[in-house]
Amino acid sequence: MKPAITLHQVSYRYSNGVMALKDINLSIFQGKKTAILGRNGAGKSTLLFLLNGINKPSTGTLKLKDIPYQYDNRSLRNLRRQVGLLFPDPDAQLVAPSVYEEISFGLLNISNEKKWVEQRVDQALERFELEAIAKIAPHQLSAGQKKRVCLAAIMAMEPEVLVCDEPASSLDPYYTRQMFDELDKLNATGKTIIYTSHDIDQVYEWADHLVLVHEGSIAAQGPVAEVVQHENTFKDCGLHLPVVFEVGKWLHLEPLPANLEELKKALKVRQRKMFTERVENN
Ligand SMILES: Nc1ncnc2c1ncn2[C@@H]1O[C@H](COP(=O)(O)OP(=O)(O)O)[C@@H](O)[C@H]1O
Ligand SMILES: [Mg+2]
Repeated sequence: MKPAITLHQVSYRYSNGVMALKDINLSIFQGKKTAILGRNGAGKSTLLFLLNGINKPSTGTLKLKDIPYQYDNRSLRNLRRQVGLLFPDPDAQLVAPSVYEEISFGLLNISNEKKWVEQRVDQALERFELEAIAKIAPHQLSAGQKKRVCLAAIMAMEPEVLVCDEPASSLDPYYTRQMFDELDKLNATGKTIIYTSHDIDQVYEWADHLVLVHEGSIAAQGPVAEVVQHENTFKDCGLHLPVVFEVGKWLHLEPLPANLEELKKALKVRQRKMFTERVENN
């Protein structure tokens, strides 16, 4: 596993003195889906702003692959092409008068070759199924459509790493599912995906890696199956264990279920076994 982004002893202090992140050592791995989990105010957004270069660490270093982050304008433009950030509120991200212009906006900042920009916009419209609404003003769209437009605008820049700050925050379960499907499709093409949430149940089935953030520090990081073993760390962070996992533990299932389907299957096996035992005993 190769790291896409590494943080070494990174701290971040806001200008009002709030120490939002303290001594963070973290590796985000290439091609993996990483969920960053923590309560409100834990420091998740501050951390994502560091990954994308919006925040510059007060101390410590970040590296993209092996290259330390630089904070001059040219390096930052380059960094943001490689690390795209999806904001929680689409209305904060959408600025253009039409979906088409929204997607071309970032591309025009990096090239004035009209043909190339048009090609990239058309590809993004097709890929995210936005052709039919290309001329519509983003503020007239549904929450789910707005998120897709934001995602299309970011992905048109072809970043290696996609950083999503609570992307399901304004979405109902249908659009949340759709969002995860979109992220999975991008991940299947090799993109590294980072996703913040305060809800373990939302990301338990989806993520490869989990990072628990609490009061500006990393409480745990690693593959999901490993991190969920640390029940007390979840408690200390004010988080609960995934419901599916917890039910599996109560029932002493082996192995513990990694998703709802596995839980259902294990319960069926258990039921069948109990039924057979009852028949044999009678
Ligand atoms: N612009 C800001 N100025 C000062 N303090 C901030 C700012 N943004 C966030 N904070 C503080 O930094 C801490 C972490 O916030 P944040 O990263 O937004 O947490 P999360 O995304 O996990 O909810 C909180 O204590 C919050 O109040
Ligand atoms: Mg946040």
